[in-house]
Parts: sequence; C-alpha cells; structure tokens
Amino acid sequence: MEQAIEQKIIDTNQKYLSALVGKEVPERLQRQLENMDWSYLDLIHGEKQQRGTLEPLGAMELPEIRERKEEFQKTGLEAIRAGKIGAILLAGGQGTRLGFDKAKGMYNIGVNKDLYIFEQLIENLKKVTDMAEAWVPLYIMTSEKNDAQTREFFADHAYFGYQPEYVKFFVQEMVPAVDFDGNILMEAKDSLAMSPNGNGGWFKSLLNAGLDQDLKEKGVEWLNVFAVDNVLQQIADPVFAGAVICSGRVSGAKVVRKADPYERVGALCLEDGKPSIVEYYELTPEMAEAKNEAGSLLYGFGVILNYLFRVDKLMEIADSRMPLHIVEKKVPYLDEQGRMVKPEQPNAYKFETLILDMVYLMDNCLSFEVERDREFAPVKNPSGVDSVESARELLKKNGIEF
Ligand code: UTP
Repeated sequence: MEQAIEQKIIDTNQKYLSALVGKEVPERLQRQLENMDWSYLDLIHGEKQQRGTLEPLGAMELPEIRERKEEFQKTGLEAIRAGKIGAILLAGGQGTRLGFDKAKGMYNIGVNKDLYIFEQLIENLKKVTDMAEAWVPLYIMTSEKNDAQTREFFADHAYFGYQPEYVKFFVQEMVPAVDFDGNILMEAKDSLAMSPNGNGGWFKSLLNAGLDQDLKEKGVEWLNVFAVDNVLQQIADPVFAGAVICSGRVSGAKVVRKADPYERVGALCLEDGKPSIVEYYELTPEMAEAKNEAGSLLYGFGVILNYLFRVDKLMEIADSRMPLHIVEKKVPYLDEQGRMVKPEQPNAYKFETLILDMVYLMDNCLSFEVERDREFAPVKNPSGVDSVESARELLKKNGIEF
C-alpha cells in the first residue's frame, strides 16, 4: 500500500479512536487492534487475484444418476450406518440481505403454521436418518453473534426431534470490518465492528473446537457441508454420497444446470487441472455461451453450496492458506459522537475466506447434477430472486406444508 494512503488511514483511525475512547484504550479493544492483520488493507488498494487456466469440468448428469441410483444409494446408506458420514451446517453468516436480526435458521418461513428454516433442514435430514435407521452426526457452525441464541433455539424446540447427542455446535472466528477507505469501525466503545470470517474457515474452526476427536470417536470419514438458507437442501443424501464414494474421488459438489448462460452462480470447472469454481462475472461471453456437441453449456453447472469432503484430505489441507475475498456488507457502527448508525446500504468491507476455495485444494471433485426445483430453494432476500417468496413457491411445489 502507498505510504500516503497508509498515513491517512492511521490519522483517520487515531482521530476516530480518540473521539470515542480518549487516551485510555479499553483492554478488549487494545487486543483486537493488536491482533488485526493490517495486510487486509492491501486487498482494498491492491491488485486483484489472478486466475489460472480454466477448462470445463462436466458433470455426472441426471440420466446416469437415475440409472445407477440403487447402487449409489446402497453404498451411501451403508456408509451412514457405519457412522462414516457427518454433516456440517454452516450457520455463522449474518444474513444481512434478509434483514432478519437473529440467526437465519430461526426465520419462520411458515404461513399457516410455524416452519423455521432450521426445522425444515432437520426434517430433510430426518428423511435420510429414518431410511438408514441411524443418526448422522450433525455439526453446526455458529458465530459469536448468534451462537447462544442458536443453541437455545435448538434446545427450546427439542432439536426438532433430532437426537441431541448427535448435534454439536462450534463457533467460527471473527475479523474486523472496515469502511470503504480502509478505516476501522467500532460497534461499541470497547470493540471494533467484528464480523464472522466467512464460510471457508469452517474446518479450522471445527478443529479449534476439538471436534476432530468426535469425528475420530464416531469414525466419520466424510463430511457433507451445506448452507443454512436452502430449505430444499438434501443433507447426507445417500445417493450423492454413494456416487462420490463409488467414483473414488476425494470430494463432490452438488450442481444445478444453469437457467441461462449468464445466471449469477459460480460454475464448477477446472483451474490448472484442479477442481475450482469460476464466478459468473469472471466468465467471458465466449466462455459463458460455449456449448459441447450435445448442446449443453460448457460452464453450465452451478454450485449450490452442498459439498462432500473426505476427512483425511481435509486434515491434509487444514493449514493451507486460503485467498481472502472482499465482501460489501451493511455493518452497524458508532459515529464520532458515539451514536449507533445502522446503514441502509452496504457501507463496509468484510474479509472472508470462502468454502468454494476449498474445492481447489482437493485433488478432484465429482460434479453431481441435481434437479433444481427439488433441491434448490435459497432464502437470501425478503422478496424477488432467491427469497422467502420464491422458496415458499418451491416448498409448495414439493408438497411441503407450511
Ligand atoms: P452467504 O454468502 O449467503 O452469507 O452465506 P450470509 O452472511 O449468510 O448472508 P448475507 O450475504 O449477509 O445476506 C452462505 C452460507 O455460509 C454461511 C451462511 O450462514 C450460509 O449458510 N456463512 C457465511 C457462515 O457460516 N459464516 C460466514 O462467515 C459467512
């Protein structure tokens, strides 16, 4: 970073800090400032990350999956019964687009009856555990902001009928958010505005919580990682797990066929020969529209944040450095007069590692097609695309009462 910019940030931060806390910096804040990795700022003022050579990956498509369903399902169910498959619910996000101030899983998507997002996810998982007649260990990642309320919510609702001994919570790490110029923001007089560090650090956080011991004790060999907001999410899907196991690969990703070449989803592909995800805005029009002989888009399979990873491979890559991404968010902060400002529009950068970069650390990945209308109903926004409204439509289509 240029020295002049750096000096300006230091001056602005000092002015802001002294306006809010004076000379006596509270201990907690002092610690946060000392731990802050200022190299994040290079990301704002620095170069964009370079991509390697991209190539299409293709997918195991629906006709083949239908044909081999029995074989895959049998393999998957055997693995579940042997305790080899665990599930990771990523629930540490802040869901700022939804504008709900509690954990997103606590959102009630019901109309005629209560139906919480967490409840629907557990219902989806129970379909599998009923079929397997075995519990799947479920690990729920929360953040400092929503950990207590999430645990309480599950306890108050008797884990929605799931076996509590098979549910474990762990908390992800936090990092400071900064304004668009790189200046610090404070959420209290003794704390910087802190945000969860993205969904890419989930395995590190699981290890930090000592849960590798639990994986070992239960003999978990595979982890199915999924997002909180897809209410049609199939969890520990035996057909998917079986297909990945039978393929001999170390990871798998559920994908849906893109609705059009420019749909705003990341597509699974190869980057320098390794599995990777290319964002929609990184594709040139030629790449976005390129088709194979059968008329399918070459970069036509979008990821839906449902992955399967082999645990021994996760252990191997646990200490790998993952790229940081800048994400624009609405971050509440104290102004110089100490008044809490709740922005209506994104006002800050958060720095996150993303699970999609974990795929690149895998030697290979089975791209596994699923039917979009049956498995993909993300709740990101209150209305419009990927919203409460669109998810309700899809729940209805799948015969789920709410
Ligand atoms: P999103 O990318 O939708 O982020 O997360 P978000 O923070 O939940 O929502 P917005 O962007 O502010 O509206 C995708 C998945 O990753 C989890 C989320 O809970 C969701 O399941 N996630 C995201 C985490 O667990 N931790 C994070 O730091 C970020």
